[in-house]
Amino acid sequence: MDKMFDMHCHIIYDVDDGARSLEESLAILREERRQGVTDIILTPHLRLGMFEASRDRVERHFKVLRHEAREHFPEMNLYLGCEFHSNMDMTDMLAEDARYRMAGTDYVLLEFSGAHPADYIRERTYSLISHGYRPIIAHCERCHPIYSSLRFAGELFDMGAELQVNADTVCGREGWSMKRFAVKLMKEGLLSYVGSDAHNLRDRAVHIGEARTYIEKKAGGSYARRLFEINPQRIVDASCGTKEDY
Ligand SMILES: [Fe+2]
Repeated sequence: MDKMFDMHCHIIYDVDDGARSLEESLAILREERRQGVTDIILTPHLRLGMFEASRDRVERHFKVLRHEAREHFPEMNLYLGCEFHSNMDMTDMLAEDARYRMAGTDYVLLEFSGAHPADYIRERTYSLISHGYRPIIAHCERCHPIYSSLRFAGELFDMGAELQVNADTVCGREGWSMKRFAVKLMKEGLLSYVGSDAHNLRDRAVHIGEARTYIEKKAGGSYARRLFEINPQRIVDASCGTKEDY
């Protein structure tokens, strides 16, 4: 069976605004599996002043969940990541603790607020790149300067950043114009990843299977494979030689 990644989700219990309990974590994993997902990079929030769970706590809960998952879903692979909300200390934080990165690699799932201006996004993204990191801009469709300018999206891509959109955006759940933006990114070759950004099974649920089906129809199976398998596989492959546990 084909591999399929979800590289952005909030399934680790009791560390952010995602799953509240181990049972809820496992229920979301079951839904991921039902939709065809085989590999998940779990990305709890880090946002100073809002989501500050210590990485020791995050890693502890990750290991409990992974242990349970190996029993219930032995064919699934789980990796530890982070959705890192941009701040002025991020290069120091990332250097000090690899658990702020994706699977212990140089990839960083970088989040901006919708209201952050283009200059700030450009400067913070470049700062990561110049320190040797590989930023992936989380749900880039929510960043107004990116959403409103394909030229700016292209500038970030040319600088070395990669762009991620949410499955809900691709499926049209965030409205027609957001979906149209995602399609434009695809047509321009600027999109590298789709993540579920799932937090629960209610209002922020998993729709990644539906997103993949849509992209397969719209752009073909090999293009979908690039977004859902080849590109995210590159992230975890980059972890070879880093600490096994991530
Ligand atoms: Fe997220």
